[in-house]
Amino acid sequence: MNLQEQVLDALLGGETLSGEALAERFGVSRSAVWKAVDRLRRDGFNVEAATNWGYRLCACEGLSAAVIDRAGNGGFSLEIHDCVGSTNDRAKQLAAEGAERVCVLADRQERGKGRMGRRFLSPPGAGLYLSCVLRPSLRGEDAALLTTYAAVAVAETVEATTGARAEIKWVNDVYVGGKKVCGILTEGSVDFESGGFSYAVVGIGVNLRRREWPPELASVATDLETETGVRADRNLFASALLRRFADVETALRERSFLDAYRARCFVLGKDVTVFRGNEQFCARAVDVGPRGELLVDPGDGTLRALQSGEVSVRVRDGD
Ligand code: BTN
Repeated sequence: MNLQEQVLDALLGGETLSGEALAERFGVSRSAVWKAVDRLRRDGFNVEAATNWGYRLCACEGLSAAVIDRAGNGGFSLEIHDCVGSTNDRAKQLAAEGAERVCVLADRQERGKGRMGRRFLSPPGAGLYLSCVLRPSLRGEDAALLTTYAAVAVAETVEATTGARAEIKWVNDVYVGGKKVCGILTEGSVDFESGGFSYAVVGIGVNLRRREWPPELASVATDLETETGVRADRNLFASALLRRFADVETALRERSFLDAYRARCFVLGKDVTVFRGNEQFCARAVDVGPRGELLVDPGDGTLRALQSGEVSVRVRDGD
C-alpha cells in the first residue's frame, strides 16, 4: 500500500486523526501526510481538516467509484450515473451484452421499479439505488433465494452502520422502527433448456437520508436518518453492502443465510392475509423454506408454500 492508501484506510475508521499522529504511524513527515491527503481529495474523497485537530473523512455528497473501490467493492465493477430510468433496466441491458459482476448505481431514478408493477420513488441525494448483475448457479424457480440473500445483506449493513435493529417483511422489504426503509427487486433471464439463470439482476433501493414522505406513504415508509439519527455515507454503505455480495455464490449453495433471514422475518408466527392475483386468504405464517418460500398454514390442516412471484402478504392487525 502506498501512503495515500494507508492514510485512507486509517481515516475509513471514522476517527479524526492529526497529521502528526498519521505521520508517526506511517513513519513519514507531516508534509508527506498533507500531500497524501491532497491526492485523496483529488480522487474524490471528502477529507475535512481542522486546525489543531486533524483530518476526518466526511460523507461525500456524490456517489464515487473511487471511494467505493477503495473501501471495497465486493469484486464488482461499478457504473455510476447521475440519473437513469431504472438501475435494474440498465443492469439488464449490460447483462444481455455479456456483463458479469457489474453494479450499476445512480443518484436518482426517473422510473424506479418496485415489485408487482409498483413504482419506487428515487429522489436525488436521498437514497442508495443500485443493481448487481450476477450469474448464479441457481434454478429459475429458486429466484427468491437471491432476494432473501439480499435482504439479509441489507439488514446486516443497516445494523452495522446505524446500530439499529433491522427486520424483514417476506420477501423483499427491510424495515426499521416498524416501517419500510428498503425494497429489493430481483429480475433475470432463465435459460429454457437448462432451467438455470442466464443472468440475474438484484436491485436494491435503500432510503438513507431524511426526507418528506408523501401522505399516502408516510405511515408505511421511512428513511434511516429519521429512524436512527445516523446520516449514513452512501459510498461507504454501498461498499459495506457490496462486500456482503463477494461470496454470494457460496452462500446460495449452502443456504447459510436462511437462518439469519428467519431470525429477522417478522411475519413468522403471525396471522397474515395473502394476496395472489384475485385470490385472497388468511393464514398463519409458519416458516421460510429452503428455497426462500413462505410456508403458511391456512388453518385447514395443510401447509401451503408461497413462491414470491406475484404474492404479497400483510400482517393482520389485532390478531
Ligand atoms: C419494492 O419495494 O417493491 C422493490 C423496490 C426495488 C427498488 C430498487 S432501486 C434500485 C433498483 N432499480 C429499480 O428500478 N428498482 C430497484
